This record gives sequence, structure tokens and C-alpha cells, in this order.
Amino acid sequence: MNDGIFQQEWLKEVQTAQASAYTPYSKFNVGALLVTKDDKYIYGANIENAAYSATICAERSALVSAYSNNITQFKAIVIVTDAEKPASPCGVCRQVMKELCEDNMPVYLTNRSGDVIKRTVDDLLPLGFSGKDMD
Ligand code: THU
Repeated sequence: MNDGIFQQEWLKEVQTAQASAYTPYSKFNVGALLVTKDDKYIYGANIENAAYSATICAERSALVSAYSNNITQFKAIVIVTDAEKPASPCGVCRQVMKELCEDNMPVYLTNRSGDVIKRTVDDLLPLGFSGKDMD
């Protein structure tokens, strides 16, 4: 990926995030790396629960962690799983990204082989609902 934004080292960093996944039920480890506009890294991993619906996805873990530390300006998010093809965020995470990230923020879907697919928040949730819809 050479779009003038993506940094190759993000592939290593997102795997560090993935290493913190807590997945006793699915064993499907997801890592999310949020890169701030001033190039700081926020890690997120999926944290599962015996009551399955209480599971928190990696993308939301990263965003909630950032916001909880008053960090709100993001350059990109990178996602990794162990699946062969780069996996795509679930609908709930797309909605949370719509709320907390800029529409044109890149979302990089990756795998352990280093393949990278680039989309934006808006690509992943076209015509997404936001506070503007309540004006
Ligand atoms: N998962 C994520 O962390 N992010 C997504 O966007 C899709 C799904 C997690 C939730 C659960 O722990 C596991 O992957 C299987 O669904």
C-alpha cells in the first residue's frame, strides 16, 4: 500500500494490538491500531464475554480507549485478523467509526501476510446515520 499515508510499520503495530485479544469463545483474534493525527498509536483488541453480546470488537476497543483519554483526532485505523483475506469491520463498529471519526478517514483492512485493502469510513457505511440526520 503506497497512498502517501499508510506506513509499513503499522502492520507490526496492529499485530501488537491483536496480541491482547481475549477470545476464549471464538479464538478469532482481531487487532485495531488507531493512528492519531500527531502519529501516536492507540491499540484495541476484541474482548469477549461468556454472555456473547457483551463482547467488544477491536475497533470499538481502540476508539473507546482513545476517547477515554481525551484523544479524538485520528489519521487512520488499521485492522488485522488471522483470516487469509483482510476482514472488514462489523456493522456496529462501522456506526461507531461514523460517530467518532471523519468520513474520509482511511480504514486499512490487513492480514498477517501484509495484504492491505483501503477504504474510508464513508465507503464502509454509505448514507450512514449521524447527528446531522437529527437536525
Ligand atoms: N470482531 C471484531 O473484533 N471486529 C469486527 O469488526 C468483527 C468481529 C470480533 C468479535 C468477536 O470477538 C470475534 O471477532 C468473532 O466475531
